[in-house]
Amino acid sequence: MPDTVPPVMDADAYRREALDAVSRAATPAELDDARVRFLGRKSDLKLALRDVRDRETGMALNAVRAVIEAALERRERELAAAAPDDTGFDPTLPGEPIPRGTLHLLTQLRRRIEDIFVGMGYEVYDGREVETVWHNFDALNQPEAHPSRDPQDTFYVDGQTLLRTHTSPSQIRAMLAKEPPVYLVSLGRCYRRDALDATHTPVFHQVEALAVDRHITLADLRGTMQEFASAIFGGHREVRMRTSYFPFTEPSVEFDMTCYLCDGHGCPVCKHSGWIEMGGAGEVDPAVFDAVGYDPEEWQGFAWGLGIDRIAFNRHGLPDLRLFWENDIRFLEQF
Ligand code: PHE
Repeated sequence: MPDTVPPVMDADAYRREALDAVSRAATPAELDDARVRFLGRKSDLKLALRDVRDRETGMALNAVRAVIEAALERRERELAAAAPDDTGFDPTLPGEPIPRGTLHLLTQLRRRIEDIFVGMGYEVYDGREVETVWHNFDALNQPEAHPSRDPQDTFYVDGQTLLRTHTSPSQIRAMLAKEPPVYLVSLGRCYRRDALDATHTPVFHQVEALAVDRHITLADLRGTMQEFASAIFGGHREVRMRTSYFPFTEPSVEFDMTCYLCDGHGCPVCKHSGWIEMGGAGEVDPAVFDAVGYDPEEWQGFAWGLGIDRIAFNRHGLPDLRLFWENDIRFLEQF
């Protein structure tokens, strides 16, 4: 008679019971309990293995152990995948969208305009918003009695100082600072005492272009304007000049370009004319060259000034200029 009796165990029933416990384990702790109970040192299986006497029983019990081990491992992976880790961080959740700011539409357009000019070999010149009467009017050949000098139209700081009414004084400052030739573009805020409404704001933005060199003609002005209009509005834009008057240019013109929407055929944007107004321009008046000490016999130039707000207004079909100032995020985030 053997001195110990091997525990009687039904290997099949043991396996079924173990797999059942493993699959019901809902937490790592419950899974550990199942592991100890069915594979631990004092488990029936381990005791049976220790006392096994024949090869066949040994193989059968080892097979049961392998099956239970595999089930434990699988269940462990399942629980790990389902549960957040202990920081509560679940890497499988989609991220929160982080709102991104954008540059103001006018800033974007300003940079785009600067890029176009830099691409044509122009220099970006920063003028001043607070100007002298001399730079803003006198040096630009503006007659003493010109209505735009009226305090009704212009914000004066004192008798000699004002908020610039256009970017043209940048021409004066740049020409005083350097010798010709000059190719510059100057962008920024301008101020006029306009009542605020959908199409007027007392603060607005202009882009001033100035080219001074030998033998500059209206044809150069026209070609540059055409290049600029196509670059900003896309496609091929025709431009046309209408005679006009500015004290600082002679001859002076107003520029139009073919409507960017209908290509000149006529539509509501261009009020069925096929043309959109761009701004004022002309050949630099000799009196301006005199004011900055350039010899008008040797140097010629063209200058133009366009409203940036108006370009943005046209380009995006906006209903109201005040949108630029209200900074409503629902408006700004569209650009
Ligand atoms: N300064 C003019 C304006 O504000 C525009 C302009 C600039 C015209 C340069 C001719 C040349 O209306």
